[in-house]
Amino acid sequence: MQTVTIQKLSKTYPGGKDALKQLSLSLNEGEVFGFLGPNGAGKTTTVKLLTGVLTASSGSCEIMGINPNTQPEKVHLLSGIVTEHAQMYDNLTGIENLIFYAAVFGMKPEEGKQRGELLLKELEMTDAKDRKLATYSTGMRQRLSLARALLHRPKVLFLDEPTSGLDPESAQNVNQMIHNLACKEGITVFLCTHQLRYAQEICTRYGLIEQGSLLALGTLQELRKQVFTSQSLRICASAIPASLHFQKRKTNEFETKIHDKKEIPVLVRKIVEAGEDIYSVNLTEPSLEDIYFALTASRKEDQTI
Ligand SMILES: Nc1ncnc2c1ncn2[C@@H]1O[C@H](COP(=O)(O)OP(=O)(O)O)[C@@H](O)[C@H]1O
Ligand SMILES: [Mg+2]
Repeated sequence: MQTVTIQKLSKTYPGGKDALKQLSLSLNEGEVFGFLGPNGAGKTTTVKLLTGVLTASSGSCEIMGINPNTQPEKVHLLSGIVTEHAQMYDNLTGIENLIFYAAVFGMKPEEGKQRGELLLKELEMTDAKDRKLATYSTGMRQRLSLARALLHRPKVLFLDEPTSGLDPESAQNVNQMIHNLACKEGITVFLCTHQLRYAQEICTRYGLIEQGSLLALGTLQELRKQVFTSQSLRICASAIPASLHFQKRKTNEFETKIHDKKEIPVLVRKIVEAGEDIYSVNLTEPSLEDIYFALTASRKEDQTI
């Protein structure tokens, strides 16, 4: 089932900025979708359109078949949102904040407390639940914000740069929690970020956006195939026959490009048959960062032609 559908969605801000240009994509239930792009690419604009905060200039979007502009209250019940700088009450404790926001979603105080405590436990925040928010670190605030977004058991969770401003360790923790919660609660996650390395650890599919346009869409494997036709194979060996056309990187380390994994055993056999010793064989798969930079570089080349 598709939980988020976006069709030819465009947004021009008053003043003429085309922040989003004909964006089309759909998310399946339970997917952790990484919406990736640099600052100013149009990620937050997309989330605002999907949550009914902004109205599209053209095109359409739906959350579980519901239009966020005509039925925003229904969309709010179905979705949770975590933004870069979550605003909550500094003079209330963590759990008091959650009980307050649960009431906003129509939950009774006891129900809000139970659900809040469960989420805080999952987010490893039980020890801090009775402390005033004023004493929380940025990482703890982001985790509390995640708990708040999940109070009413949303079907879709929008995360707009949830780990920006966090140190690498806290960012990794928050990401792992997002992943675990998404798996456990079967939630569809729409994660906007420019931190590609973290995204690669938790997302199941990606959309790469730049200047309001979608550059590519797919799983890591699909994107690798779209962007790179070959992969780097690095072999450490006593020597490699010149006929195999490897390039020497350093002592006993050689590299070549292959187009299919099936080439590996053939090459290894030839090296061994030539009487050489092999110490290691490594296939370097392009990371999300490699894909992203290759895509943006080719786009820049197109623009200069
Ligand atoms: N309220 C606004 N009025 C005019 N331009 C805006 C407004 N909000 C965002 N923009 C512009 O729209 C573009 C996309 O912004 P945004 O969606 O915030 O990008 P991202 O979240 O990917 O960093 C940027 O060029 C930004 O300056
Ligand atoms: Mg943004």
